[in-house]
Amino acid sequence: MEILAFGVQADEKPLMEKAFVGHHDIRCLSVFLTEDTAPIAAGYEIISTSVNAILDNRVLQTLAAGGTQMIAQRSTGFNNIDLEVAERLGLTVARVSYYSPYSVAEFAWTLAMAVNRRIVRASNRTRDFDFRLDGLMGRDLRGRTVGVLGTGKIGEAFTRIAHGFGMNLLGWDVAENPACVDLGMKYVEKERLLAEADLISLHVPLLPSTQHLLDAAALRSMKDDAILVNSSRGGLVDTEALVAELRAGRFAGVGLDVYEAEAGLFFLDKSLEVVEDDTLARLVTFPNVVVTSHQAYYTEDAVGQIIGTTVRNVLDYTAGRRSENVLVPRLSQALPSRGAREFDDRA
Ligand SMILES: NC(=O)c1ccc[n+]([C@@H]2O[C@H](COP(=O)([O-])OP(=O)(O)OC[C@H]3O[C@@H](n4cnc5c(N)ncnc54)[C@H](O)[C@@H]3O)[C@@H](O)[C@H]2O)c1
Repeated sequence: MEILAFGVQADEKPLMEKAFVGHHDIRCLSVFLTEDTAPIAAGYEIISTSVNAILDNRVLQTLAAGGTQMIAQRSTGFNNIDLEVAERLGLTVARVSYYSPYSVAEFAWTLAMAVNRRIVRASNRTRDFDFRLDGLMGRDLRGRTVGVLGTGKIGEAFTRIAHGFGMNLLGWDVAENPACVDLGMKYVEKERLLAEADLISLHVPLLPSTQHLLDAAALRSMKDDAILVNSSRGGLVDTEALVAELRAGRFAGVGLDVYEAEAGLFFLDKSLEVVEDDTLARLVTFPNVVVTSHQAYYTEDAVGQIIGTTVRNVLDYTAGRRSENVLVPRLSQALPSRGAREFDDRA
């Protein structure tokens, strides 16, 4: 059978093609699945999609009408997929429930250090043969306090690195992680964490209860010279409120790998188009802000695991097997509880 994969990056294509050898043929498209591109899937029983694909009612209707029966999402998160509609249309949906948390945790630290030690500005200067140090002063991390919001797999990996720096560890989560407690993490109320932390990193999933977790009031309660890193989900931060704080001269640095309106922008070359997103346009003008394009997961290791699991998900589907990666099973298989699905809505 030939499988159609949408949104395949150039680096990913050879890995995808190799992984499917001996199993199925694979056709890799660089375009993302949207309402405009959904008709290309006509005649493909199985398609594969990436994190910024749009799988809303209209797209799913188009897919089902074209004969698609299975969607293999190449990410952990699935908040881009209307699962209820998929279920109603009889579409099987699977995702990748686990891959290297180190990919994201290490990248969160890359952003934290880049803004703390002004690496982007320093690099731009030396390219111009400007070797002054003015404006490049950072801070030692040893002895300072890190606040980790969400201490699951990625939060724990992030905390281990913070421990290596010799930082004081504050955590906030609905459930304490014993491994973080063993490292010396103190679980506190969110308000205390925001007020005391010198560096705050977000690692909770985006859920209705965590939407704008950092709203205007929360951002105001942070230290003026705090560093904020978001490598989790854009919707966790009220970006307009963040821009207002930055305009007021607050925060030593902000590193963002995700942005609440990233769909339709991130992963694409928009350099020749008129910029329509004024918030993002303003955000990237601040010298203490670094924005990257949802690349925290993008390591050989994590992408290899994502692709390997996607192949397994396809093989499970064709063999009629059910795994923990299945979000909407084939009609003949039992459904997981809705509550479990909502809680597990990770990116
Ligand atoms: N930028 C990227 O490339 C990238 C890649 C993968 C994941 N992510 C993001 O990282 C997040 C964390 O991933 P993970 O693998 O560590 O997930 P995880 O499920 O292991 O950890 C999430 C943690 O958040 C906690 N949590 C859930 N709901 C909460 C709430 N309402 N309030 C407080 N805490 C809550 C959970 O108890 C858990 O400890 C994902 O949800 C995703 O948004 C980003």
